[in-house]
Amino acid sequence: MSIRPIRLFGDPVLRTPADPVTSFDAELRKLVKDLTDTMMDAPGVGLAAPQIGVGLRVFTYYVDDVAGHLINPSLQLSEELEVDDEGCLSFPGLAYPTSRSRRAVATGFDMHGEPVTVEGSGQLARCVQHETDHLDGVLFIDRLDPAQRKLAMKEIRASEWWGEPVPLVKVSPHPTRGKAF
Ligand code: NI
Repeated sequence: MSIRPIRLFGDPVLRTPADPVTSFDAELRKLVKDLTDTMMDAPGVGLAAPQIGVGLRVFTYYVDDVAGHLINPSLQLSEELEVDDEGCLSFPGLAYPTSRSRRAVATGFDMHGEPVTVEGSGQLARCVQHETDHLDGVLFIDRLDPAQRKLAMKEIRASEWWGEPVPLVKVSPHPTRGKAF
């Protein structure tokens, strides 16, 4: 087990677009393992490499008891949208109604460089959109409507973790199982 500190909102790494993976090597496999261990420990339903301070296009997910990972993802999204509560491990304890495409098809690679497709609706679709956003330096609060974003910023500023020196070892346990990506 290798559990890494989760970077929190305010850490510039979360706003930095990640680089594509070019070497499918032992270091990458270790990254996937660390992401998986850290996500399961949090616990969360998804985790992107920038959230542990690594600027590579890699994320893991754990949705409906299925764990997986995706490298260098690209998305095809349905036009139909769905609003549901969404949180993020980089914003401990907070969740807001967030609009996402209802269905998503994510294509990319596994840690061995084999092509992979992850396809689904509901929470899996939400997860792949949330995590791919992380790889572009985009955060779920950017997707909120203006009133919700205003509320979110107010609650973030009032959070005990806000303004802590970065990186900060995660606040545990997170009461967000099922909602935090
Ligand atoms: Ni997140």
